[in-house]
Amino acid sequence: MLSFDSPLTAIAQKQTLLKQPRQNVRFLTRFASLALLAVISVASAVWSWSQEPTASRQGQYGLTQIRTADGEIADPTFFLSNETCITCHQRVGEEFLGSFHSASHEDPLYRQFALLAQAEAGDAMYTFCSGCHAPAGVVTEMILHTPDAELPEEIKGGVTCDVCHQISSLTGHEGPWQQEGNASFVLEPGLTKFGDYEKAKTNRLHASEKKAFYSTSEYCASCHTVIHPVNGLTIENTYQEWKDSIYAERGIQCQHCHMNSVEDAVRVAETLEPVVRVGQSAAKGPERDIHPHYFVGANVDANRLTHGPLHAKMAVARLKSAARIEVVGPKQCTPGQELRIEMSVHNVAAGHNIPTGVTELRQMWVDLKVLDANGRTLFRTGELDEHGELPSDAIWFGAVAVDAEGRPTAKPWEMSRFLRQRSIPPKGAVRETIITQLPAEVVGPLSVEAKLLYRSVAPHVVDEVMGEDAFRPTITEMTQTNVVIEVR
Ligand code: HEC
Ligand code: HEC
Ligand code: HEC
Ligand code: HEC
Ligand code: HEC
Repeated sequence: MLSFDSPLTAIAQKQTLLKQPRQNVRFLTRFASLALLAVISVASAVWSWSQEPTASRQGQYGLTQIRTADGEIADPTFFLSNETCITCHQRVGEEFLGSFHSASHEDPLYRQFALLAQAEAGDAMYTFCSGCHAPAGVVTEMILHTPDAELPEEIKGGVTCDVCHQISSLTGHEGPWQQEGNASFVLEPGLTKFGDYEKAKTNRLHASEKKAFYSTSEYCASCHTVIHPVNGLTIENTYQEWKDSIYAERGIQCQHCHMNSVEDAVRVAETLEPVVRVGQSAAKGPERDIHPHYFVGANVDANRLTHGPLHAKMAVARLKSAARIEVVGPKQCTPGQELRIEMSVHNVAAGHNIPTGVTELRQMWVDLKVLDANGRTLFRTGELDEHGELPSDAIWFGAVAVDAEGRPTAKPWEMSRFLRQRSIPPKGAVRETIITQLPAEVVGPLSVEAKLLYRSVAPHVVDEVMGEDAFRPTITEMTQTNVVIEVR
């Protein structure tokens, strides 16, 4: 633990302690990265037919766009642990720990995917993944050259306080894709923390500096836009979905919903106005507008993370707020005839499509039953099979990507295009008609029960990547409706 009486000396001491044994590591690292670079440049020459980039795709660390301010390999002692920050920023810490950012390197599903990426596509691809999932590991080059078990907390913490608050500029516009994405930022490790406050109170650990981009969606886009680093396929497109929406038009940023409680985010979606919360940003700090750091999305499986249960609950609330399902008709039906159920699903509160992000993993679907007056099921769609998989005729939202040979794949590094992408845009709706044949004898009235369900990943993907039954993804009911149809 640092002593705050003389933080500068403490850091300096820690630095000299660590520096000696790292000399060799650094030499080896440099050597290894040269070799890696050679491999990558050959590989990218081979692939260069695929798309004409406007600038070199090779960044300081290869396929990821991340870089350091001085162009040097960053010193790991300039990434402090979350715990260090939390000693003064207790509120922020309580909100943050248990979020997927705090687990972005150790999240078991990601971990297994990342190890597969490394085994199947090599170190350059693993470094690419880590550019967003463990940025400090990339800029210090520790991610490739330190066994995972030996990585310090400051690196394994993934998207930590000190990763996010040492981002000194965004570089996407000058990069090969001319947009924010693939970790398009500069890390400037040191004793200045960047943020949105004009005049932060001075303190004994760090200086503060305002960077206006901290309160914009572009900041988030640097990691929430994922572009295949070789063939240019856009894999995660949350930012663009937002950019095309009324939220962007009205100046509502990612932060207004994800750096807020779910209740406040719902108000933001309804009113298209920001909700401002006042509180303390640091111990003994002044009262000012704060930005709760829960970063809750839809991943209810946060309950598997340390400190995650609160975030899991918030994710359920967020999912329940996001969509509405409506059965429009008919009001009446006739035995022995066709029953045509008209329904629609609405995205009411998400600032982007639902689902968004890793849509090749996420699944949202309609589970709809038609029951007779005795409660007997006459028809059902969206019932999971005995393996917990969606039937092929389900009404579902999510994506299927294929590799260069056209085979479906959930591995981002193999993806070459999407075979299917179905999602609901912000404030938009999709309609569906369900047709079934009614028996000649029907005891009315009929009732229709429609549910919209969500899970972060299909069980067969978990089994394939993590081993049989590693965990069963939680299914959340986002919304439901019941309507009655009279029988004539
Ligand atoms: C010794 C106590 C202390 C420690 C430890 C500490 N901070 Fe701070 N920090 C403060 C104070 C005080 C403020 C000013 C709060 C205000 O003005 O409301 C502040 C402000 C900030 C701000 C706002 C800056 C701005 O311009 O918007 C950020 C971001 C920040 N700290 C990040 C961090 C990070 C990251 C760490 C860990 C590496 C950390 N702090 C550790 C005391 C501390
Ligand atoms: C994913 C990136 C990210 C992570 C991780 C992160 N922050 Fe922040 N933080 C931000 C952004 C963005 C803002 C400014 C939000 C705005 O202005 O809309 C902010 C604002 C702040 C502020 C001022 C506002 C407030 O609510 O007090 C402090 C202090 C702060 N962060 C400290 C921390 C600490 C401490 C941690 C770790 C426990 C942390 N941050 C983790 C992105 C991050
Ligand atoms: C340095 C990269 C980085 C930055 C910057 C960043 N994120 Fe993330 N974010 C990630 C990664 C990686 C994950 C997924 C971690 C996992 O699940 O393994 C994630 C996950 C999330 C989730 C949880 C998703 C879920 O499925 O529940 C939300 C919400 C989120 N981020 C919002 C934001 C917002 C808002 C900002 C901008 C203020 C932001 N992020 C900035 C990398 C980043
Ligand atoms: C109007 C509020 C609102 C805004 C603005 C907003 N979100 Fe969301 N976000 C939601 C809601 C509600 C959900 C849960 C439903 C869903 O999964 O889409 C969500 C879910 C997510 C998820 C998890 C999706 C999944 O299925 O894994 C991520 C990641 C995310 N948001 C990132 C962002 C980023 C990045 C931005 C800005 C470009 C942003 N959000 C803007 C409300 C918002
Ligand atoms: C540009 C930044 C970026 C890069 C590069 C990146 N990811 Fe991610 N990854 C994210 C974000 C942001 C999320 C969260 C999106 C969401 O929740 O929908 C995420 C989520 C995931 C998840 C889902 C985790 C969960 O628990 O549901 C997996 C798995 C994953 N990434 C694997 C990878 C692999 C493997 C690579 C490298 C081939 C990679 N990612 C590269 C940003 C990135």
